[in-house]
Amino acid sequence: MTTQLLDGNLIAKKIRNEISKIIEERILNKNKRIPHLGIILTGNHSSSITYVNHKIKECQKIGIESSLIHLPLNSLEEELLEEIKKMNKSPLIDGFIVQLPLEKHINQDKIILSINPKKDVDGFHPENFGKMALDMKAFFPATALGILTLLERYKIKIYGKHTVIIGRSRIVGRPISILMSRKNYLGNSTVTLTHSQTPNIEYYTKQADIIIVAVGIPRFLKGGMIKRGAIVIDVGIHNHEKKILGDVDFDTVYGKASYITPVPGGIGPMTRVMLLKNTLIAALNNR
Ligand code: GUN
Repeated sequence: MTTQLLDGNLIAKKIRNEISKIIEERILNKNKRIPHLGIILTGNHSSSITYVNHKIKECQKIGIESSLIHLPLNSLEEELLEEIKKMNKSPLIDGFIVQLPLEKHINQDKIILSINPKKDVDGFHPENFGKMALDMKAFFPATALGILTLLERYKIKIYGKHTVIIGRSRIVGRPISILMSRKNYLGNSTVTLTHSQTPNIEYYTKQADIIIVAVGIPRFLKGGMIKRGAIVIDVGIHNHEKKILGDVDFDTVYGKASYITPVPGGIGPMTRVMLLKNTLIAALNNR
């Protein structure tokens, strides 16, 4: 079977151009400041540093301003809370994120709860998460939004299809399970959410029309676990012996799936551009 790649780089570039245009027309032409994203990074987790650098570069590409606060390893929870307070108050910052994961001595829930929901462009605060689950206007987590948008731009219908998600994280699995099952034109899918305690995951994946893999295990989903023609979305990214691997075993799935997202160049760029989109929305909302 011919497998088509879902090119996240291409679609993200188109969306960056659309965002740039909106910034020009709706913000700069009215003599307003350009949108400004704040980023708080703690410690020296190497992937987090890479992700944050990517996010800053994406901002530069389209002329969104960014400010990075990098707190050193072993910073106290109170110091992080203090920086969040400053970002919450700052009239210059339209939206901000606290890069996860945090060090073990920091209470992640307390940190997320301390972010002003109106500036929570990650969509992680319970106010945004709850509103999302209740079909209200809110910031949606960038990866979930990136997956939906990529499917939409490729005109892949999810209505009535069976979507199997592997992984129930707060950042990806749970939000995408909510969004895909919504009564909405970008929803109406029948969703099965599987996770580390699901016995015989293959039983579910073999029935899936769409499979979203966000399990954090390199090459987890093999070709033998899917039905012919399935649409496969790979959210994983792992550095492995100088190669970048996803959660999908690309070589065995390619040729059996109808569509697949490559790693890199699939969901990663879509996630980053959706953060820019949320920052633009925050700038339009908050001024
Ligand atoms: N760590 C991994 N993904 C994300 C994300 O989307 N937002 C934040 N804040 N941290 C992350």
